[in-house]
Amino acid sequence: MKIIVLNGSPKGMTSVTMQYVHYIQNKFPQHELKFINISQRIKKIETDMRSFQEILDEVKGSDGVLWASPVYFFLVPSNYKRFIELIFERNVESVFADKYTACLTTSIHFFDHTAHNYIHAICDDLKMKFVGSFSADMGDLGKEVERERLGLFAGNFFEIIENKTPTSKRYMPVIQRDFDYLPGEAREVVDAAGKNVVVVTDVQDHQLNLSRMVERFKDSFSGEIEVINLRALDIKGSCLGCIQCGYDNQCVYQDKDEYIDFYNTKLKPADILIIAGTIQDRYLSSRWKMFFDRSFFNGHAPSLMGKQMGFIISGSLSQVPNLRQIFEAHSEIQHANLAGIVTDEYGNSAQVDELLQDLAGNLVQFADSGYIRTPTFLGVGGRKLFRDEIWGRLRFPFRADYLLYKKLGVFDFPQKNYKMRVQIAIMSLLSKSPGFRKEVNKRMKDEMVKPLQKVLESVSSDR
Ligand SMILES: Cc1cc2nc3c(=O)[nH]c(=O)nc-3n(C[C@H](O)[C@H](O)[C@H](O)COP(=O)(O)O)c2cc1C
Repeated sequence: MKIIVLNGSPKGMTSVTMQYVHYIQNKFPQHELKFINISQRIKKIETDMRSFQEILDEVKGSDGVLWASPVYFFLVPSNYKRFIELIFERNVESVFADKYTACLTTSIHFFDHTAHNYIHAICDDLKMKFVGSFSADMGDLGKEVERERLGLFAGNFFEIIENKTPTSKRYMPVIQRDFDYLPGEAREVVDAAGKNVVVVTDVQDHQLNLSRMVERFKDSFSGEIEVINLRALDIKGSCLGCIQCGYDNQCVYQDKDEYIDFYNTKLKPADILIIAGTIQDRYLSSRWKMFFDRSFFNGHAPSLMGKQMGFIISGSLSQVPNLRQIFEAHSEIQHANLAGIVTDEYGNSAQVDELLQDLAGNLVQFADSGYIRTPTFLGVGGRKLFRDEIWGRLRFPFRADYLLYKKLGVFDFPQKNYKMRVQIAIMSLLSKSPGFRKEVNKRMKDEMVKPLQKVLESVSSDR
């Protein structure tokens, strides 16, 4: 069988992910695996129709397609996303339709699931026959048990193609609502009270709803607020994945384009940051993705810490919960506050006006009071994963992260709490006795609320 491997790594064949595909290639020599570097060659693929057509011809003549990519910022790299956009823009979905397909990523498992959800949904949109996903940790290939698991996954993929086994769809097509947003006049305006409000957008002339929403949001304030269009910014290219920034946050593009300066001088000083974009396939545009990928020069540092964030989105966000989760996770990981998301999907201009006005008010109010929502599992889990990785195997090459995490007290491992460790050791020993366990069971509920009741008492006596 012939399988086309669409390589998402900007590093081309010198990619961690590709080593996993090589493993499959070695294990199943009876099948031909043809590698195509998508992300690394995106400029050529985009500008040279012959290159694009060659890829389509390969897909057409194949028995299956393997989407193989690193996870970049909750998704796949921006250049890979650009390729997906080209498929839809150039109306060549039919080339992919009915092809068996699977997805393989490597990552440190930080929001690998949202990347997999995305690729799966794209495959469903392309009417492909999605067999399954494999999410490998970067270092898994070194473990026999994981190599075996990968072999089983690949074997199953080939078998399903051979047997023409039916597959089921997970994602319904996104239905776009035909709606022209016609903003009304802003009746009450919000005083930004000295807060630095920055709107970043990728709006294009034809995206009338988004441009009107941004304008209406601007009009919600009594003073001027800054709007920056990513498309007007000189960004030479996407993240190369070279990780040279790990040492001291210096990107290889430093001084070569406007991105780093824009991030450091416009975004970092902002109190309130609005992200405004249009949903394109199952995410924002690849331009927006490039913005996020390039922010990797900050490493794993919460570079937008303490900010109020809002999203102004044109498109059916309620039908793409994966994207909403990415917005929520992004804000939480950044230690920022997601003050609200406004979309134009409800088809009622007056309602959109009201929501935009309300968002402006909330952003300023939260910025004033310093309110940051408590993180949910998305933020708590993600931060712990980063903490452990930066403390452990990623300390090199991410030296800058390590130094910052140390300074911020991120390394809060519980094993340093000696009092608790001693208590736990004593209780564990005692719990071997059935009599003690019986007593514990009797008192468990009371003991759990006791320390909290003490807090309540001390707080009320403070008044
Ligand atoms: C810009 C950038 C963003 C990344 N984002 C994530 C991420 O969101 N989640 C994750 O688990 N790993 C992330 N990683 C780590 C890569 O997924 C991982 O190193 C991968 O194995 C690289 O594969 P490659 O060598 O094939 O490009 C990121 C790496 C880079 C350079």
